[in-house]
Amino acid sequence: MKKPIYLLATLTGVAAFLTAVSSYRTPEPVHFGSEKHELDSTVLDITTVAQNLNAPWDMAWGPDNMLWFTEQDGKVSKLNPKTGQITELLQIKDYYRKRLGLMSMVLHPDWKTHPEVFINYSHIQPDSVIVSKLVRYTYNGKILTDPVLIYQIPGYLGHNGSRLVISKDRKILWSAGDLKQKKTIHDPAFANGKVLRLNLDGTIPADNPHPGSPAWSMGFRVPQGLTYTKNGNLFIAEHGDATDDEVNLVTKGASYGWPYIAGFSDLPEEKTYSETHESVYPVKAWTPTIAPAGMDYYDGNIPEWQNALLLSTLKDQSLRVLKLDRKQEKVLSEEIVFSQKYGRLRDVCVSPSGDIYISTSNRDWNPPANFPIKTDDRIIRISKSGTIPKNKRIAKTKEKANAETAASLYASFCESCHKADGGGVPGSFPSLVTSSRLAGNKEILIPFLLKGSQSASGEGMPAFGFLTDSQLSEIVSYARSNFSKNTENVSAGEIGEIRAKSK
Ligand code: HEC
Repeated sequence: MKKPIYLLATLTGVAAFLTAVSSYRTPEPVHFGSEKHELDSTVLDITTVAQNLNAPWDMAWGPDNMLWFTEQDGKVSKLNPKTGQITELLQIKDYYRKRLGLMSMVLHPDWKTHPEVFINYSHIQPDSVIVSKLVRYTYNGKILTDPVLIYQIPGYLGHNGSRLVISKDRKILWSAGDLKQKKTIHDPAFANGKVLRLNLDGTIPADNPHPGSPAWSMGFRVPQGLTYTKNGNLFIAEHGDATDDEVNLVTKGASYGWPYIAGFSDLPEEKTYSETHESVYPVKAWTPTIAPAGMDYYDGNIPEWQNALLLSTLKDQSLRVLKLDRKQEKVLSEEIVFSQKYGRLRDVCVSPSGDIYISTSNRDWNPPANFPIKTDDRIIRISKSGTIPKNKRIAKTKEKANAETAASLYASFCESCHKADGGGVPGSFPSLVTSSRLAGNKEILIPFLLKGSQSASGEGMPAFGFLTDSQLSEIVSYARSNFSKNTENVSAGEIGEIRAKSK
């Protein structure tokens, strides 16, 4: 009898000891659900590490091994990725959140001597003019304090970028959207449609290509991704209009074509423009568009993804893995993961240990069908959890682009604005269900689709002249039969005739 009693006593003692010390131990890793995902040879663990956030825009790995992040409603916080604990560091008061709000953030690389954070956000002045502010804050060990406005550029409701990075030579690089002001994109006197380069105090570096101007390179539309690779190459990711989302390699003084060239110089007007203007073409372009957002360089412990740009997408709701060549100048291949799983993905951040963090943006102004879910927005960690034994490996079939069905054409080219149910977004994108133009005369509808338009709200309908007659015919038939009272088809032949007439 003695033995069991002794054992019991010992166990109780251990239990009591554990209870006594448990509050001093690091808490168990928090995760709100975790799953596995297999690559060719690597097993990934995918864990939600933060939830109930409000449209996070930017994530940065801190020198304290915390994940710092911004939310569009003016908050900067840091997340302990091990425990899930979130500490709020700053609530900006003068941000303006309509579509945009608080956006990007970058931490000073010389943190010990300069515990500073640079933050970009939209602000509306008393005269109703929207501006985009670059403000430096200092971390006092607890919160971010002492804001200093170091630079300010015109802002807008959309097309306002942005991302911030700091170069090895300690300059701040800032991607700024075109603000829909096409005429000034190539003018160094204006900040729109550019990568801007500033000293860390907001002054203009003496070696910028246009004296006195922050312009470093120009010809961008809506650039929301900016990252350095290991060897110091700078890549930018931007939204195209109806076609040609792009990733570009950014170099000093170069011009990237927009608004004269979308993607490559392949249309007649584009070719004419390139006869007299030198432009740099993308290392990767996408039509149908995917809405690329945050981008980070990966060289961590997931072998399949080494030496790649990781790009998060909004419209396509996926993570794109763009493998680079050795010189980190060209994209060799693309893999698409997590399609439609977590909704819109605004940013991606790689930790020094090779873990990847992605953040959802389902509580921004343009949520997709079936989102937000209750726990949105989320930050999700992707980490290597094991290796598949050699004899158990099966080459995974990569996710492929959809076959071109009428439904997939509508999803690729129309759904991001007019939505899957045709209902649109009130105030921005009209409903197709109640649209008299969709139901009306094809001689008016087709030229409208070919040429696009600019609505009173300032939100444009892109020109779809680049689609073939049969693609347009499929789309019109699909939209009419699903949303409209007039279900009459318009054949490819009819579209061809109307196109010829309207030229
Ligand atoms: C980037 C957003 C966007 C995309 C993508 C888009 N549209 Fe539109 N669409 C608009 C806007 C904005 C308007 C309002 C334009 C106006 O009133 O001049 C509009 C208007 C329309 C109308 C007229 C609605 C009315 O008021 O009667 C039709 C029809 C239409 N779009 C069809 C399409 C089809 C078909 C596609 C896909 C091939 C498409 N749109 C893709 C933004 C978009």
